Amino acid sequence: MGSLQPISFLGDYIDGRFIVPDRADGEFKDISPSDLKDEIMVLEYRYDHVHLATKAAKRAFLPWARLPQEKRFEYLRRLKEVYLTHQDQMAEVIARETGKPLWEAMTEAKAMVNKIDITLDFSMKLVQDERVENALPGIDGFIRHRPRGVMAVLGPFNFPGHLPNGHIIPALATGNTIVFKPSELTPAIGQLMAQMFEKAEFPKGVFNLVQGIAETGKRLVADEDVDGILFTGSYETGLKIKSTTLDHHWKLLALEMGGKNATIVWKDADLNKAIYESTIGAFWSAGQRCSGTSRIILHKDIAQKFIDKFYDTAKKLSIGHWKTQSFMGPLINADAVEKYLRFQEIAQREGTERLMRGKALDVDGYSGYYVTPSICMVNEFRPESVYQKSEIFGPNVAIYQTDDFDEAMKINDSTGFGLVCSIFSKDKALYEEARLRARVGIVNWNRTTNGASSRLPFGGLGKSGNDRPTAHYAVQYCTTPLASLEDPHPFDAAKSQMPGLAYEPLK
Ligand code: NAD
Ligand code: SIN
Repeated sequence: MGSLQPISFLGDYIDGRFIVPDRADGEFKDISPSDLKDEIMVLEYRYDHVHLATKAAKRAFLPWARLPQEKRFEYLRRLKEVYLTHQDQMAEVIARETGKPLWEAMTEAKAMVNKIDITLDFSMKLVQDERVENALPGIDGFIRHRPRGVMAVLGPFNFPGHLPNGHIIPALATGNTIVFKPSELTPAIGQLMAQMFEKAEFPKGVFNLVQGIAETGKRLVADEDVDGILFTGSYETGLKIKSTTLDHHWKLLALEMGGKNATIVWKDADLNKAIYESTIGAFWSAGQRCSGTSRIILHKDIAQKFIDKFYDTAKKLSIGHWKTQSFMGPLINADAVEKYLRFQEIAQREGTERLMRGKALDVDGYSGYYVTPSICMVNEFRPESVYQKSEIFGPNVAIYQTDDFDEAMKINDSTGFGLVCSIFSKDKALYEEARLRARVGIVNWNRTTNGASSRLPFGGLGKSGNDRPTAHYAVQYCTTPLASLEDPHPFDAAKSQMPGLAYEPLK
């Protein structure tokens, strides 16, 4: 493991080189939430770098799109080799910036490596050229998928490498070029990614990086040269992006937003499995996953047994610095801690029963944003309750009880979000019913809500997304289907007479 020296700020990566702003519009600091003494990087940003980057990406677009697919794949496979040799460094930067334990950050770094083979060898089949024989009588048709152009990728802090990478790799494979703006809370992994694209010797302008704050993101999505916006972040920001781009009818918007996911545990469930998986769902990454389990709906007959064991398991979770083998690290910043504590107060004011109180925590002498898990019992389901419908993005879970599956479905659908719903039951018919009725993009059976597969579509409905699932399906939104009728036959006057069209062939 490398030493924890500050990382030098290299600037924005535009048109194949790093440029430090010579006249900055502002600066910000990247500080580890695990240890506030660990100042990782000080960055400067300059707004007009946004347009420099989109122009570079636009210039690079046609040459990159013109390359035979196999040639683009060669670059991406080279990137995979570079990622592989830097996997430990990637994991360390992610752990340091987000505070997630190194073992967990390593799963993120590995997912970034694996995304390349999954895209090239598995997902690209969704956009392969297709010949349609006799699309019209005697004429074959073709369906081909054309890249869209310059893709702006905006990333969240919680998976600062894997989630932007999940947009970037499919976009590049299908022939688009990229301007990536990482979260201002996790800029160092973005810089490292740019260094790796440089090492993999991508053509200039194919991948560009611009560092900055929310205003930088706003300028990027509003830029006239951007053809598509591949966003992962909160519902509130997604909505702002939508309104910023209202006049830009040509822009693709792929919005991956928040969640308030429910797990339903029915009376015939394998309780050990349900408790174990729900613990992972609720508290992994300190609850900072869009796919986290924020609500558990228990069948009344097994509720007390579930709650007792779930409580004990949550109480014993280890919380610590990213270098330790802890289950949970800190929240990302002081605002996140304030929000986490405030929502527990809101829950109380709204009449929920506090089963476990979440508190700010000192860990092994580190000053960081550590908190303990919390559990609230909701005795009255109220869809208008602020606590019951808001994404908290911390290790809090609300517990409901019912013996009516229709009510469980109603609770599931009550928040406006619609990302994941899990159901634990031996009765497959209940799962099939949930698949039909739950207004979400993912329904899991006997498996927690988080820890998605890159080989499946990933996305949500309502406030969770705009029906453009990422992961396996990202290659589809990165392209537009192009239809062609191809007629290789010479002109045949006998076949070409329409009523009223007396065409005399040239002599
Ligand atoms: P965020 O919305 O605060 O920020 C995401 C990105 O948007 C950042 O790069 C930020 O700088 C940029 N941004 C902020 N304001 C902007 C604006 N007006 N215009 C353009 N860009 C702007 O999100 P976050 O706090 O980093 O991440 C946590 C959120 O992300 C949670 O809500 C979580 O559920 C969600 N998330 C969703 C998924 C998913 O796949 N659905 C996955 C992970 C996280
Ligand atoms: C996320 O929840 O933020 C990513 C999806 C996952 O859990 O793998």
